[in-house]
Amino acid sequence: MEEIKKVSVIKNITDISSMDEADMALLKQAKEAVHTAYAPYSKFHVGAAVLLANGEVVLGSNQENIASPSGLCAERVAIFHAGAKFPDVPIVSIAITVKAENYVVKEPITCCGACLQSMSEFEMKFDKEMRIILQGETGNIWIAEGVKTFLPFMFYVHELKNK
Ligand code: THU
Repeated sequence: MEEIKKVSVIKNITDISSMDEADMALLKQAKEAVHTAYAPYSKFHVGAAVLLANGEVVLGSNQENIASPSGLCAERVAIFHAGAKFPDVPIVSIAITVKAENYVVKEPITCCGACLQSMSEFEMKFDKEMRIILQGETGNIWIAEGVKTFLPFMFYVHELKNK
């Protein structure tokens, strides 16, 4: 028996002045997108900003529904928005942040499995990994290169696309 091991690396930024300017600008736009969230049930407002290879930025926020599975996370609203508006343009990076109504989120929130799987489809479509930038309302910023950081054994069957 042998083990198959995959290691994930996340950059933890404690000093904002050391951060890449483009990443910082995208995070700022994600913070603006938070204000468009519709989250009357969870009171957890999430914003996402997607930077495309053509320089365009597309925003998204979580949109909830009284029948909860009918709602959608900020990440998927943003990337599907990008896919619908610029179907042929790869995603360079995505920034995600949050503001809860009743407490301060001091740590980055990571994307749910369904969002990661949807994000991975864009990486595969363009054969290009995306940079993922995460921050809570305050606190450290996490930067990860590619969906594989969070979903190392993600579902992908090469033949499925080719047949
Ligand atoms: N949510 C997101 O929009 N993105 C995440 O990464 C985690 C969760 C939303 C879904 C729901 O509207 C609320 O946050 C609470 O789960």
